[in-house]
This record gives sequence, structure tokens and C-alpha cells, in this order.
Amino acid sequence: MAVSHVSEDEKALIEAIREIAQERVAPRAAEIDHSGEFPWDMKELLASHDILAMPFPEEYGGIGASELAISMAVEELSRCCATTGLILAVQQLGSMPILLAGNDEQKRKYFPQLASGEWLAAFGLTEAGSGSDAAAMQTFAVRKGDKYTLNGSKRFITNGGLAQVNTIFAITDPQAGTRGISAFIVEKDFPGFSVGRIEDKMGIKGSQTAELIFENCEVPVENLLGGEGEGFKIAMRTLDRTRIGIGAQALGIAQGALDLAVAYAKQRVQFKKPIAENQGIQFMLADMATKVEAARLLVYHASELVDDGDEQFSKYSSMAKMFASDAAMDVTNDAIQVLGGYGYMKEYPAERMLRDAKITQIYEGTNQIQRLVIARALLSERNS
Ligand code: CAA
Repeated sequence: MAVSHVSEDEKALIEAIREIAQERVAPRAAEIDHSGEFPWDMKELLASHDILAMPFPEEYGGIGASELAISMAVEELSRCCATTGLILAVQQLGSMPILLAGNDEQKRKYFPQLASGEWLAAFGLTEAGSGSDAAAMQTFAVRKGDKYTLNGSKRFITNGGLAQVNTIFAITDPQAGTRGISAFIVEKDFPGFSVGRIEDKMGIKGSQTAELIFENCEVPVENLLGGEGEGFKIAMRTLDRTRIGIGAQALGIAQGALDLAVAYAKQRVQFKKPIAENQGIQFMLADMATKVEAARLLVYHASELVDDGDEQFSKYSSMAKMFASDAAMDVTNDAIQVLGGYGYMKEYPAERMLRDAKITQIYEGTNQIQRLVIARALLSERNS
């Protein structure tokens, strides 16, 4: 499709990312899935091509890419390896609270190393008892002099334990509900910060998902983001932006599964002809391609709304994430069906794609939460 919002430079970058993904990332994908280890080589690859610099403004060492270009980059990487696509998506997620609410000093301190890829970022909102109900958190921060002391834990944190820079949400005023939550930048080596359980997951296996523990963790007051009590809104505004990235990841997975199914159907011969000559297979491929294209339109549209500064983008961000992740589940499932017995085997990537796709319906807000966000926006619009 035409992507009018992407500059000539960004078009060249996306083209380069597509090549890198196909030549360097795709051959590593099965191994990353099998080993379950964070692919440091892929992180280095993205860093060396300035791909991790995309979400950061030029004045802080980034390349200030458009939202659309970032989405297309996540898509191209995830088409080959969803774990590698997530490295870029989470670099943006973990840094977004600083981008939205950080002051100049905080951006100067943290963005250059995040943009160069020397440091990874993580976003710490979820807790064992606080998933969809993000406001139900039980991590507390108490100010004493020039420090906050954090106590509590965060669960299911992508890049947990690997990230140097963690944006963490904690209660500073227990009486004030969502207005009593504040956001902090917590460095990995701050005293009282440690890493707990590392999760064993169904998919995106190379991405590390960990528990973060705060035991009298000392955070300097200058690491408060925005003002006290602004944390919940910072978290919500962050997710409004970054859910598009999960939509892009899902879109990439779906496109990868479609590519595989089309190629297989053309070469697999049964009853003396390629199975692609059967209408039963053709109809499946047509449905898969239509879902991929519809997901792409929503992901790109939501990205363009961000780039245009359109305030309606939150609703479209949730729509893009919800639709693309559902499409990814359908398309990867159908890809396995087209490949038949081979699709079920680990020898082919279809089953990995389905396992990777599943998380996109869950993280950064389940698709049920996305429906809630969409419905709330719809019902509060004027003229509705
Ligand atoms: N932007 C700005 N402010 C917002 C907002 C938004 N998008 N959404 C809500 N707010 C404000 C409200 O206006 C309200 O402000 P006031 O106090 O001024 O009235 C305040 O925040 C509280 O809002 P709600 O009453 O709507 O809050 P709620 O408790 O009903 O929760 C929710 C809303 C949408 C369900 C929210 O809890 C939510 O998004 N839950 C899902 C959490 C989630 O997505 N977690 C993902 C974790 S990260 C992850 O998964 C990353 C990974 O692994 C890669």
C-alpha cells in the first residue's frame, strides 16, 4: 500500500530493515525459539543499524523516526522473528514514559544510551494481582528527603532483569486512587532492586519475562517522572502509543505465516498437482491475505494519526492492536492447516508463529481491555 507519511529516508531505512530481517534475522529465528535465550546478537544487529534509535528524538541521540516508520520496522522484523521485533517495540515502550513526561535532564541522562542500544528499557506496570486492573497495584513509594523508597514487586516484565532503565509505577498516595500513582525511572543497579522469577513461556521465547522486586529500593527524587500522582495517566498515555507496536508485531507475524503458506501451497504436490490449485486452499489463502491487509491498514492508520497529532489515535491504537492480534491468531492457525502435518512439526516455522501470535492478544492490555477502551472512546465522542 502507499505510505505517504513515510519520508524518502525512512523508505530507504525500511527497505534496509526488510533485507536485514530476511538475511540476518530469519535464519536465527528457530534457534532463538529453541534456546529460549535473549538474542544479544540480534540486539547488536538492530543497534548497529540505528534501528533502536528510531523512537528517540535527534537532539537526544536518536533518529526521531515517525510512528509509521517504527511500526513498519517492527512489522518487518516480526515477519521473520517476533522476539526480535519485540526488542524494538519494548525499547519504545520502556522509554515512552520518559518521552511523554520526562524533563530535559532525564532525557539527556537516559536517551543517548537507549538510542545507541547500549541500554535496554523495560516498562513495569503489571503485578501478580494487578493485570487488567492496573490501578490495583501494591507497590508503594515513600518519599524521605531526596529519595523515594520503593517496596513491592512487578510481574511479567518484558526485558526484566536485562534492562538498565526501568519505568516503574508505584503508589505514593494510597487515599487518592489512580491519582495517587507515580512513575519513576529505576536503574538496574539501584540498591534494593533485584530480579525474581524468570518465566517459562509458550512463545516469544527469546524475550526475557521476569519479576522485578523492590526491597527498600532507593530512587533519587530527580527520577520521578512528571509530578507525584501523574503516574497512572503517564502509563495510560504510554500504552495508547505503544499498543500500535504490538499491532505491528502481530501484523508481521501474520504476514510471515501468509508468506509461508503461499510458498508451501505452490510447491506441495498431492493428487499429482500443487495443492494451491485446489479451490479449498485458494479460499483459505484469500481470507488470510485479506485479514493481513485489513490489519495493515489499521496499524498504519493508527500510526499516521499519531504522526499527525490527531487526538483520536487512542481508539485506533486499540483497534489496530485488537484486530491485528486476532488476525495473527487466525492466519497462523490457517497456515498450519495449509501445511498439514508439516505445519504441526517444529521443522517448519508455522507452529512457532502461532505460539508467538498468542501473546499479542494478551499483552499491553488484553483484547477485552482494548474493546473497553474503544467503547469508552466511542460513547464519549460528540455526535454519538
Ligand atoms: N490517557 C490519559 N488519561 C487516561 C487514559 C488515557 N488513555 N485512560 C484513563 N485515563 C485517566 C482517566 O481520565 C482518569 O483520570 P481522572 O482521575 O482525571 O478522572 C484516570 O486515568 C483513571 O481512569 P479510569 O477510571 O478509566 O481507570 P480504570 O481503573 O477504569 O482503568 C483501564 C482503565 C483502561 C482498564 C486500565 O486499567 C488499563 O489500560 N488496563 C490494562 C493494563 C495494561 O494494558 N497493561 C499492560 C501492561 S504492559 C505490557 O503488557 C507490556 C509487555 O509485556 C510488552
